[in-house]
Amino acid sequence: MSKPSAVGNVMIEAARRAGRSLARDFGEVEYLQVSSKGPGDFVSNADHRAEDVIFEYLTKARPGYSFLMEEKGFVEGSDKTNRFIIDPLDGTLNFLHGQPHYAVSIGLERDGKLVAGVVFDVSRNEIFWAETGRGAWLGQRKLRVAARKKLDRSVLATGAPWFGKSTETHMQFSRELSTIAPTIAGIRRNGSAALDLAWVACGRFDGFWERGLNQWDIAAGIVLVREAGGVVTEIDGKDVLQTGSIIAANPDLHPLIESPIRNAGKRKPDN
Ligand code: IPD
Ligand code: CA
Ligand code: CA
Repeated sequence: MSKPSAVGNVMIEAARRAGRSLARDFGEVEYLQVSSKGPGDFVSNADHRAEDVIFEYLTKARPGYSFLMEEKGFVEGSDKTNRFIIDPLDGTLNFLHGQPHYAVSIGLERDGKLVAGVVFDVSRNEIFWAETGRGAWLGQRKLRVAARKKLDRSVLATGAPWFGKSTETHMQFSRELSTIAPTIAGIRRNGSAALDLAWVACGRFDGFWERGLNQWDIAAGIVLVREAGGVVTEIDGKDVLQTGSIIAANPDLHPLIESPIRNAGKRKPDN
């Protein structure tokens, strides 16, 4: 069994601390559903609190490291080679609606390469962690991507665009969905990209694609999938952290998902 490195342990502890803060706040959220004001402001505060907990802990444990955080943005440290990439609460809409599917995501980039990732599913108390060369783990269990080779047996995860996104973004997603859905066993939109990737790493999903994510949504999950033997690429062959358009799957299924998604995404709607 592999153990996390010193910095891996520090990332796990930071995720656990943020998870405790989120779990306390999640307990309040269900009561706020019925209040006239709704839980919006409360959840936004919960998100910031969790990020503060992570930032405070990690700056003490690793002074000088740089940070990219969803809420505070980029904080440059004296050490420019190490950068934590943090989403304190991935799955905000689930959290806001009292749905217990959300996570803390902490990635570490060193010399421009992703080297470690922790995704903490707070409700299930599942810590997924991975480090380059140490494998991907869920507790004592070494993770492997699913072995399925056939699309028609596969369950894929995705993310659908929402209010405020352009008509073309919605059309593009519809084209992708109508191309891939008839070829697979099932599709899920669970609402946390970090957990979608963690679930690809542990074989609960056979693959995942989504466009336009942010670095903090996927940094940790990318390390998990790669260390579990999966393949992660950018949908159109660009830099996945830059565009956030991602396909992750086992090496057999990856090309079978990539090609139809890429082509459907490019196709212009018929006039
Ligand atoms: C979101 C989740 C969701 C994905 C969105 C992300 P947030 O992150 O990962 O699954 O579809 O694109 O923005 O806002 O909950 O941190
Ligand atoms: Ca997110
Ligand atoms: Ca978030």
